[in-house]
Amino acid sequence: MITAEQVLEALKGVKDPEIDRSLVELNMIRNIQIEGTTVSLDVILTIQGCPLKVKIGEDVEDAIKALGAEKVHVTFGSMTDEERAALSQKLRTPQQQTGTSDLLSPTSKTKFIAVASGKGGVGKSTVTVNLAVSLARLGKKVGIIDADIYGFSVPDMMGIEQRPVVIDETILPVERFGVKVMSMGFFVDDNAPVVWRGPILGKMLRNFFHEVHWGELDYLLLDLPPGTGDVALDVHQIIPQSKEIIVTTPHATAAFVAARAGAMALHTTKHELLGVVENMSWYETRDGEQDYVFGRGGGQKLAEELDVELLAQIPLRAPDTLDPNDPLFSPSIYDEKHPTGKIYQQLAEKVIAKA
Ligand SMILES: Nc1ncnc2c1ncn2[C@@H]1O[C@H](COP(=O)(O)OP(=O)(O)OP(=O)(O)O)[C@@H](O)[C@H]1O
Ligand SMILES: [Mg+2]
Repeated sequence: MITAEQVLEALKGVKDPEIDRSLVELNMIRNIQIEGTTVSLDVILTIQGCPLKVKIGEDVEDAIKALGAEKVHVTFGSMTDEERAALSQKLRTPQQQTGTSDLLSPTSKTKFIAVASGKGGVGKSTVTVNLAVSLARLGKKVGIIDADIYGFSVPDMMGIEQRPVVIDETILPVERFGVKVMSMGFFVDDNAPVVWRGPILGKMLRNFFHEVHWGELDYLLLDLPPGTGDVALDVHQIIPQSKEIIVTTPHATAAFVAARAGAMALHTTKHELLGVVENMSWYETRDGEQDYVFGRGGGQKLAEELDVELLAQIPLRAPDTLDPNDPLFSPSIYDEKHPTGKIYQQLAEKVIAKA
């Protein structure tokens, strides 16, 4: 005969996929009833219409059937506001409860990498998302903060359509390709322009640390807005230990402007530079020749000027994952087998070796 204790014990191994904690620990399992080999129970979800309901139901059923139950009846319910508030409090680490973030505590093992450029449109966001996914493919726990508060693009580039789950005051980042993502884009309706200024920007950025349940991370990448404005300074204030990658195109002017971002990292924010990534380096023609459409040598020159390594040269080429019906759909993520995906993999290996 199966007992309620056995059921609870078995369900300790079943996690809420979004919160990454056991359903038992989250107090989501209620009202266990056992009649012979039939087990009935309630699963209380954080919100009604939780998108992961089916998956959770299946996991619960499998775990209980493994105990020898023949039938499992799961009734779904949702938490009351009070229960959600209590859960939100529980998810907060001691640091978060006092209004700071454990990612930023002196004992945190998370490494921060900000991706910057002098000019807009050179591929910072593309590099950020692909480096993040490549690090995750190498087994690292990775997060991205889309610190381009006005010009957010990370959710779109990664093909993210869902919004984060918000439990009371705690936000759960959206996970895609094994990377946890937080972006202003999740909180803006229909691509409406964001018009906040100065101090609010810094505040939003801080919230992305303090209000978000990141869990453990090896790397947190920050996609910065172009140029050397306020956000770069805010990032420095919040995470002085952040390292930086500078992205440029091979064009001499782009590299010249990127040098300013590099100089800012070196002299103003004193962020350690990991190196330079040259993007849109060439276009490969049908005959397999490299056509240097945007000029040549900018990345190398910039790296020499900043006295850092040229970490990668990434050609102009679209990913193969552009079909919206493909489960791997994303406008900007390269598959691991794609030639560009392989270059990003090498970049990720270099980054791991350096940071
Ligand atoms: N190597 C590449 N091959 C083809 N297209 C690319 C490549 N790198 C970037 N792109 C495209 O170029 C455009 C600009 O890239 P991206 O948005 O990453 O630049 P950014 O520096 O983040 O821009 P912003 O300054 O606006 O934030 C995007 O449409 C992106 O898909
Ligand atoms: Mg960008």
